Amino acid sequence: MKILMIGDVVGKGGRKAVKSLLPEIIDEFQIDFVTLQGENMASGFGLTLETVMEMLESGVDVITSGNHVWDKREFIEHLENPKIPVIRPINYPNNTPGRGYIYESSPVGVINLIGRVWVGEFDSPFSLADQTLGNIFLDKKPIIVDFHAEATSEKAALGWYLDGRVTAVVGTHTHVPTADCKILPNGTAFVSDLGMVGAENSILGAEIEGSLNRFITSRKHKMQPETKGIMNFNSVLITTDDNNNKATSIERIDRKIEI
Ligand SMILES: [Fe+2]
Ligand SMILES: [Fe+2]
Repeated sequence: MKILMIGDVVGKGGRKAVKSLLPEIIDEFQIDFVTLQGENMASGFGLTLETVMEMLESGVDVITSGNHVWDKREFIEHLENPKIPVIRPINYPNNTPGRGYIYESSPVGVINLIGRVWVGEFDSPFSLADQTLGNIFLDKKPIIVDFHAEATSEKAALGWYLDGRVTAVVGTHTHVPTADCKILPNGTAFVSDLGMVGAENSILGAEIEGSLNRFITSRKHKMQPETKGIMNFNSVLITTDDNNNKATSIERIDRKIEI
């Protein structure tokens, strides 16, 4: 099976790049299943039903998220709808709306976790991964993990912790693609960060002025996505062994497109 995992999509420019590029990438590599990090899809902060539908229509199967999933309050109720394939990190407190993994309704199991180093206080992603893997089974279908975390060390640790128990552990959240794709000894594909789908001339997908002024003045400035110019499309392609659902290869698929 061929699985494409796309990094954090930032605002309208990112969505336009996905709409333009994804159908041809699916065709070119004969991709069976696509995930996308959607936490910044709607004007940089959170998701809306419209932006989710737009991405599903472009060929995305499951949308994962992270700390920004709560930014558009009107979307929170949709996290409860089992027909909408959007998940949020599973290691939020117990009564948090939404679900942290998809398995029954999908040909690929997808788990969403969030890190604790420089991100926030959450339950242990390691314990929650263990718990979740008591309910879903790698011998039945591939299982992939989006670990939404800041520290590369924490991401590497989770990769090694889950080696052989899931098909892939990929990092998201930093918006910076990393060049460390590898298959761990027991068959789990790993990369520290997928990167983003967002503007080349930006600070992590945001317009330079607002983000830069935060650093210069130490005060809050309005941040919005850069929607024009060249967009970077960052993703990885994971190929699985149909006999055991482990990974046989992981490679970066990175493109640029002028919007
Ligand atoms: Fe993000
Ligand atoms: Fe994030």
